[in-house]
Amino acid sequence: MKIALPSDAMVVLVGIAGSGKSTFARAHFAPTEILSSDAFRAVVADDEADQAASEDAFALLHIALALRLRRARLAVVDATNVEEWGRRQLLDIANRTQRPSVAIVLDIPVAVCLARLTSRGIRPVPPHAVRRQQRDLRRSLAGLLEEGFSAIYAIDSPEAAATVHVERIAPVSAARDVMSRRNRARRDDARSSNRHRNA
Ligand code: UTP
Ligand code: MG
Repeated sequence: MKIALPSDAMVVLVGIAGSGKSTFARAHFAPTEILSSDAFRAVVADDEADQAASEDAFALLHIALALRLRRARLAVVDATNVEEWGRRQLLDIANRTQRPSVAIVLDIPVAVCLARLTSRGIRPVPPHAVRRQQRDLRRSLAGLLEEGFSAIYAIDSPEAAATVHVERIAPVSAARDVMSRRNRARRDDARSSNRHRNA
């Protein structure tokens, strides 16, 4: 599967614990492009598993996201993002900064994720929490386009995840600049031909 990403996009990874979001992010993006909720929990609380630090961690993540997008720097949000209210906050930031938003959904079977989490060993996530995330994810899938994402890619198996090729394409904001430059050129042409006519 080929994923075409405008180089000024907000990329929202969506997937339950163990679905491979962080692995996917590391494979396809530079470390500075990845905004991870776990990393921001560690920044504020020295513990990436400290769920009580989530509010502060996301406050920082949102600021970093807005600042990167303002500079037209690609930003990848590595968090579960299975709840609509969480995604809405991200979409608000992308819209405010006029950047495209792309959702990449890692819709990996829950049994695979639970098995991976067991073998990962670190930062155990209780199975009931993973199943709740799965219910939220299922509920989310149909409505993502309506929420306002510019593009949505769904990866439904580990095999599909392994074949993903991410390609960077021209930034949407630059496309907008080119358009307005073209429109300006057209307007100037029209003006000068009017002048000739009036002369
Ligand atoms: P990740 O740690 O990448 O999952 O992979 P995640 O979605 O980011 O999980 P949370 O939400 O932060 O908890 C989970 C485990 O699965 C392995 C990884 O090496 C890791 O141990 N994994 C991931 C695979 O074996 N294959 C993959 O394709 C992806
Ligand atoms: Mg992770």
